[in-house]
Amino acid sequence: MLNSPPLLSLKGVSRQFSLRQGLFGRQHVLLAADNVSLELARGESLGLVGESGCGKSTLGRMACGLLSPSAGEIFLDGRPLPPAGAGSWAAGRIQMIFQDPFSSLNPRLKARASVAEPLARAGIPAAQRRARAEAMLTTVGLEGLGNRYPHEFSGGQRQRIAVARAIVTTPDLVVCDEPVSALDASVQAQVLNLLRDVQEKFGLAYLFISHDLAVVSFLCSRILVMYLGQIVEEAPTQRLLADAAHPYSQALLAASPAAGDSTRSHNAPPLEGELPSPLAPPPGCRFHPRCPKAHAVCRTQPPPWKNMAPDWRVRCHLPCNA
Ligand SMILES: Nc1ncnc2c1ncn2[C@@H]1O[C@H](COP(=O)(O)OP(=O)(O)OP(=O)(O)O)[C@@H](O)[C@H]1O
Ligand code: SF4
Ligand SMILES: [Mg+2]
Repeated sequence: MLNSPPLLSLKGVSRQFSLRQGLFGRQHVLLAADNVSLELARGESLGLVGESGCGKSTLGRMACGLLSPSAGEIFLDGRPLPPAGAGSWAAGRIQMIFQDPFSSLNPRLKARASVAEPLARAGIPAAQRRARAEAMLTTVGLEGLGNRYPHEFSGGQRQRIAVARAIVTTPDLVVCDEPVSALDASVQAQVLNLLRDVQEKFGLAYLFISHDLAVVSFLCSRILVMYLGQIVEEAPTQRLLADAAHPYSQALLAASPAAGDSTRSHNAPPLEGELPSPLAPPPGCRFHPRCPKAHAVCRTQPPPWKNMAPDWRVRCHLPCNA
């Protein structure tokens, strides 16, 4: 359809948490996601990468309707996204896969019942649920194992159940939050291949969250790099791997040789220092205390977005490759 809205759109979305230290301590405000805007097209896979604590899961939960933004707006197919719930028109259209399938699967439910559960919430009649759950277990390579309980499967198989459960309602969007981080490398590859197969088969869009650039670049055509609650670079995957413009993206690349473009070596120095506390983010550019290129302006002025190309933007005063 010409001029149809993006499948998912976040406009200036922020989320803060109020924290109190000690029983009578002062209230602190933590800005976990700060003025994030993004668009995701139907059938696209968009990666979200960044260090632990930078706000990836907070963003993912908002994109699912599981957490409401403190500011900004979220649209699904151009309509404001309602909170996740059985009664919502968006029920079943967005699903989520988490890092640890053991905690996301009910240990007392057989695999078939776990997979069928979202169908009930989406209002599918009971008579159809069993067959659809069985068919989906077959799709993810677990044919005939619907009678088993989660503890009877391996970690990789449990994540396959989580995939079946997430896609059984044929959603438009699946938010995958570190779905392979808890798995061994060989099993990671199998689950990533499965995610790619089912994406093609069902036309799914992914918002794919990981701290591992190699994992994100395997599955995603476009990548957002996040630092301390803010998106700092957005680029097509091949562009980011070859020409990352933000010093933080470069540091992530240097730390992840498996993700690098083999035709180009990334000579960025390794990332030093800890992620600063999000309770007191550095002024100016939030990355300046760790940035090897930091200049005086970086310490006081927040960098504006710079368009490097129509589909490539970076938030840095002195982007590499500019
Ligand atoms: N419910 C909450 N209450 C208070 N603070 C929270 C809450 N959820 C997240 N945070 C804080 O918000 C920040 C971002 O957390 P988030 O879990 O989104 O990061 P992440 O990038 O997913 O990290 P990880 O890679 O470790 O999963 C962190 O400082 C975290 O402690
Ligand atoms: S704005 Fe300055 S400190 Fe921030 S990433 Fe760019 S060069 Fe480094
Ligand atoms: Mg997380």
